[in-house]
Amino acid sequence: MEIKVSASILSSNLACMSDELSKIKTAGVDWVHIDVMDGVFVDNITYGNNFVAAMRNYSDMFFDTHLMVTDPTNLIPLFKKAGSDMITIHIESNGDTAECLRLIKQLGMKTGLALKPGTAVEECFPYLPLCDMVLIMTVEPGYGGQGFIPDTLVKIKRLREYCNEKFPHVSIQVDGGINNSTAVLVKQAGADVLVAGTYLFKSEDMKKACELLR
Ligand code: DX5
Ligand code: ZN
Repeated sequence: MEIKVSASILSSNLACMSDELSKIKTAGVDWVHIDVMDGVFVDNITYGNNFVAAMRNYSDMFFDTHLMVTDPTNLIPLFKKAGSDMITIHIESNGDTAECLRLIKQLGMKTGLALKPGTAVEECFPYLPLCDMVLIMTVEPGYGGQGFIPDTLVKIKRLREYCNEKFPHVSIQVDGGINNSTAVLVKQAGADVLVAGTYLFKSEDMKKACELLR
């Protein structure tokens, strides 16, 4: 399975975003992971569509947009306009999940569906025909730098088995507490897109860190 690495800019220096985007590209990272938080769905507030539009002027990389918001419905067209290539919505958000996934697709973006650690993996099964990717959160959403939750490994494994049988095109992304040792575990369980924030941005050599994740 080809492994992709997505760098979460949550741990980067936001005041120097153009430099950070160049660094991510030079390091050979595949995607840029953009954590959008509205202060209601999760405690934190991060950045919105205008920030993504500004980033777009400095990067041609794949923008993997993770919406941790109360209701993503009206935001989807805004992030498309800003330059997102993929939008991942939470199954726990308000709004019609299937309709949102259809809208993301209609607008020409890739679709992702995220599950918090406490949400049963089976809940995403009905939506798999509409998904390019499922994000199994490996920490509680809201903050970078938390410890990986090992209980999430069984969810990844179950989803990989189910997808292999019925939806082999679906990618499995993991997000939270990913480093060179937890990467081994999630890959073994069947994940193929690894998000890392702290691990990549606090490393001395991002290129080497990225290679270690793969
Ligand atoms: C958490 C975010 C993550 C976060 C991961 O809510 O979705 O993308 O940035 O950070 P690390 O890799 O530091 O755990
Ligand atoms: Zn994220």
